[in-house]
Amino acid sequence: MKRVITYGTFDMLHYGHINLLCRAKALGDYLIVALSTDEFNLKSKNKKCYFSYEKRKHLLEAIRYVDLVIPETSWDQKRNDIHLYHIDTFVIGDDWKGKFDFLKEEGCDVVYLERTPEISTTKIKNDMLKFYHNENQSK
Ligand code: CTP
Repeated sequence: MKRVITYGTFDMLHYGHINLLCRAKALGDYLIVALSTDEFNLKSKNKKCYFSYEKRKHLLEAIRYVDLVIPETSWDQKRNDIHLYHIDTFVIGDDWKGKFDFLKEEGCDVVYLERTPEISTTKIKNDMLKFYHNENQSK
């Protein structure tokens, strides 16, 4: 069985995330998502999530491509995860291109998938702000 892992925040789950997860699963038989905890997001990525870790985890677990969700609590856990979960392929969006090539030393493939254009959690948040601003102005 070929085992694949990916990492991310996956807040306000959108079709860019689904595309990524679908293509990640197609690289193997078993997909693990290491989901950034709220603390890790805040401390290390300067991101405040709209949905809590438990809610983001629940959403991911409801997706047919995802077999297991584990917490991502540090940048350094990847090497350990690769051995602990017997990972064959590490996969992530190409906004991280080249950043994780060092994981090949652990004996796994490293794949960067093209991001789906024109969608992100940040864009949704900004668009919603603009939307409500315009709604209120037209009242
Ligand atoms: N991703 C993607 N296409 C998008 C958005 C995200 O392929 N349009 C991928 C990322 O490259 C990453 C994973 O989905 O591998 C999780 O990304 P995440 O940072 O959680 O999502 P974003 O929407 O980019 O969030 P933000 O705007 O907060 O950075």
